[in-house]
Amino acid sequence: MIKISPSILSADFSRLADEIKAAEAAGADMLHIDVMDGHFVPNITIGPFVVEAIRTVTTLPLDVHLMIDDPDRYLADFIRAGSDILTVHLEAAVHLHRTVQEIRAQGVKAGVSINPATPVEELTEIIHDLDMVLLMSVNPGFGGQEFIPHTLDKLERLKKMIREKGLTVAIEVDGGVKPDNARRVAGAGADILVMGSAFFKSGDYTATMKTIRKELGNA
Ligand code: DX5
Ligand code: ZN
Repeated sequence: MIKISPSILSADFSRLADEIKAAEAAGADMLHIDVMDGHFVPNITIGPFVVEAIRTVTTLPLDVHLMIDDPDRYLADFIRAGSDILTVHLEAAVHLHRTVQEIRAQGVKAGVSINPATPVEELTEIIHDLDMVLLMSVNPGFGGQEFIPHTLDKLERLKKMIREKGLTVAIEVDGGVKPDNARRVAGAGADILVMGSAFFKSGDYTATMKTIRKELGNA
């Protein structure tokens, strides 16, 4: 079954605990947490202290997306804070293999994310060591952007690469995913859909989740 990972970037931060509990009650499979440093992306969001606080209010797996330069400096902090999946950007990690090994050595799942202009073929030499690939379908930095259609082509190529190598790496798609394109994205090979604005700006989370599940046909 396709998993839904609501991104708290579009939640009401003044009521974060309630927002997270509501997402959990609505049937979210995991929680997507966007960490931005104002260098790798032109926005600043949250750090390990907030992840640690979130850990105390939910049992959902924490899917932590590091959009930061030099991620090695902060791996230990985000692991200690309670991340279940820790994703770094291929474009930001100089010694990506070492970074991935360090995450896994701590018993945390390792993800690598690629930006819209990065070819999926750049993952060829690291894909065997991953639990997840996070395919950006917008340029990282902000919620509420339009899905970039070319992502579907990348998604199909990535799925093919994973299949041909006989791997079980999950593919997560992040950016501009909403009920009216979810089926296409899942059909092209996504296993996990991140939904920020389409989820947290929708008002009724349970109804939104129901709509999404219906669109996906419980795929
Ligand atoms: C963008 C973030 C996304 C964002 C998605 O840089 O990585 O996770 O929250 O938001 P929507 O679903 O609104 O595009
Ligand atoms: Zn994200």
